[in-house]
Amino acid sequence: MNVFKDNLFRGSVIVLFWLLNMAGSSHAQTAMVNDQSRHLISLNGKWNVMVDQGNVGGWKKFWIEPKLQKKTDFFEYSFDGAPELNVPGDFNSQMCELSFYEGSVWYRKLFNVAQKKDKRLFLYFGAVNYIADVYLNGEKLGSHEGGFTPFQFEITGKVKDGSNSLIVNVDNRRLENGLPGYGYDWLNYGGITRDVSIIETANTYIEDYFIQLEKGSLNDVLGWIQLNGGQAEQKIKVKIPELNIVYKSQTNNSGFARVEFSSRFKLWSPESPKLYNVIVESETDTIVDEIGFRTLDVQGDKVLLNRKPIFLKGVNIHEENPMKKARAYSLDDAKLLLNSAKELGCNLVRLAHYPHNEYMIKEAEKMGLMIWSELPIYQNIQFADSLVPKKMETMLREMIRRDKNRCGVAIWSLSNETYSSTPNRNKALINLTKICKAIDSTRLVSHVINTQGYTNNSFNVWDTLYNYSDLIAINQYIGWYIPWQGKPSEVKWKVNFPDKPVFISEFGGEALYGNKDVPTDEASSWSEEYQEQIYKNQVEMFGTIPNLCGVCPWILFDYKSLGRMHPVNQKGFNRKGLLSDKGEKKKAWYIMNEYYKRK
Ligand code: GCU
Repeated sequence: MNVFKDNLFRGSVIVLFWLLNMAGSSHAQTAMVNDQSRHLISLNGKWNVMVDQGNVGGWKKFWIEPKLQKKTDFFEYSFDGAPELNVPGDFNSQMCELSFYEGSVWYRKLFNVAQKKDKRLFLYFGAVNYIADVYLNGEKLGSHEGGFTPFQFEITGKVKDGSNSLIVNVDNRRLENGLPGYGYDWLNYGGITRDVSIIETANTYIEDYFIQLEKGSLNDVLGWIQLNGGQAEQKIKVKIPELNIVYKSQTNNSGFARVEFSSRFKLWSPESPKLYNVIVESETDTIVDEIGFRTLDVQGDKVLLNRKPIFLKGVNIHEENPMKKARAYSLDDAKLLLNSAKELGCNLVRLAHYPHNEYMIKEAEKMGLMIWSELPIYQNIQFADSLVPKKMETMLREMIRRDKNRCGVAIWSLSNETYSSTPNRNKALINLTKICKAIDSTRLVSHVINTQGYTNNSFNVWDTLYNYSDLIAINQYIGWYIPWQGKPSEVKWKVNFPDKPVFISEFGGEALYGNKDVPTDEASSWSEEYQEQIYKNQVEMFGTIPNLCGVCPWILFDYKSLGRMHPVNQKGFNRKGLLSDKGEKKKAWYIMNEYYKRK
C-alpha cells in the first residue's frame, strides 16, 4: 500500500473509532453549583477496582457484568472479589504497583437509592483525572475530560429498587491535545480524586446563581439566579438575615432572574475575612451559602482590594498532601496546606497549575487568603488542534461555575508558560480571555509567562498576551536556572506595559533539607545555604522592579515530579519547596517570612 493510501486508511480508522466511541454517549453536564448545601448521598468509601493495563475492558464490556448461566460459563474478570480503593483519592498512592501508573482503571460502587416521584437524581463527581467514562446498571451515561473540575449526570428514572451498579472507567494517560498536554512538572495522579455523591433535588431546582458585588462597587450586588425544571416561572428570594435583607423577584419562562440589591457590607479582606449567611430561595428549592463581599480592581500599577492598594504576598501550592505523598482532596488536607501558607505570612495562594478541590477554595476564603485559580493550559499545548479551544472553554466554564461565588478567588489565570512560537497560541488564548471576562467581569484575569529576555542584567518584558492580562505575571528563576549577570540590586527592567502591575508569579531554587558538609556556593550541592542566597538576592532584586504588586515563591512544599531524578538530592521530588516534604522549614523559608513581615 503506498504511503498516501496507508495514511488515508489509518486516518479513516481513527475517525471511525472516534465516531463509534462518541456515538451513544453524551458529554457530562456542567455540575450544579454548591453541591455541599444540597440533599446528597455520599458515594465516598471503598470501591472495587480492576487495573486494566491491557485496555481490554472496552471490548470485553466490563460495565455489563454478565451473570453465570450454565456450568460451562466463566468470565476472566469480575468486580466481585476485586481489590478495593478509597474514593476520593488518587490510585497511585494507594497501590504500590500503581505508583507511576498512567492508564485505565475500572471502578465499581454498588448503592441503593429511592427514586421519589417528585424528585430528580444526579450523579456528581468533584473531579476525575483525566478521562471518565461513566456507566449505570450497564448503560453508558457519558464521558468527561479534564482532571480538576466537577461534572454531573442526571439519573432520574435510571435507578432501580435494590442494588445499583455504578462503573467508572478512569484513564489518566496523557493526551497530546489534552489540558495539560504531554509534559508537566507534577505527578500525574489518576483516579476518582474528589468526592462522589448522589444529589436529590426538587423537580425544579436552583441550578446556579451568582451573588457578588458589581465590579468597582462597595455596596451594590449585581447577580442572577437560574432554575432548572419545568416550573420555570417562580417567585425567588435572596435573604441575608444579618443585614435584614430580603430581596424578592420572579424568574422568567427560562427560569432566570436578575438579582440587584445594595447594602452596607462588612467587606471581606485578608485581615477581616467576613462571610455572610446567604439564603437563596425559590418556591421549590432552598440553598444556603456563605458569601463574602469585596471588590477587586487594577488601577495603574496597583491592585486594589476594596479600593485600597494591596501587596500580594503569595506562595505557590500544588494539590498534594506532602505528608501522605498523595493528591490532596479533603478539608484536613486543605487546612494543612493553607495553615502553612498563613504561617509564612501570605495573603494569597496560587493554586498551581489547575483548579484545586472545593475545600481548598472555601477554607482559603475563611482564612483570609486570596486565591489565584488557574487552568492547566501549561507549557506545550496543541492550540492549533481543532478540539483544544473547545476543551479550554469547557474547563474554564466548569472552573468559574464552581467558584464564582467565592469572593476569595481574586484571579482567573488562563495559562502558564505557553510558548509564543506555538501555532495559534495567541489567538486561542486571547479568545479564551474574552470569554472569561464575558462570563465574570468581577475578577482579574492573568496569563503567567516566562518569555521575557534577561541579558546584561536587564529584563525585557514584551509578550503580546500581556496586552490582555490585568497583571504582568512573570516566572523567573534568576539564581537557579539562570545565573545572575550582575548585582541583583542593579537589575534593569524594560516592561513594555508601563501602566500595569507586575507580579513575580514564580521564583526560587532547589535545596535538600538538612544537606550538610557540601559546598554552599555550588548549585549542584542542593544546599539550603545556596537556596537561601537565591532568596536573599531575589528580595534584593524586588526593589528594582517597577510597579511591583506582589511576589509568589515556587513553592511551599517539596512535591513529587517524575522528571526530578537526581538519585541523591531529588529522588523524584521537585526540591524548590520552602519546606521539605516532611514539613521542615529550610533556611530560605525564614528569608521569605521576614520579607512578608516587612511588607
Ligand atoms: C516552571 C513551572 C513550574 C515548575 C517550575 C520548576 O516555572 O511553572 O510548574 O515546577 O518552573 O522548574 O520547578
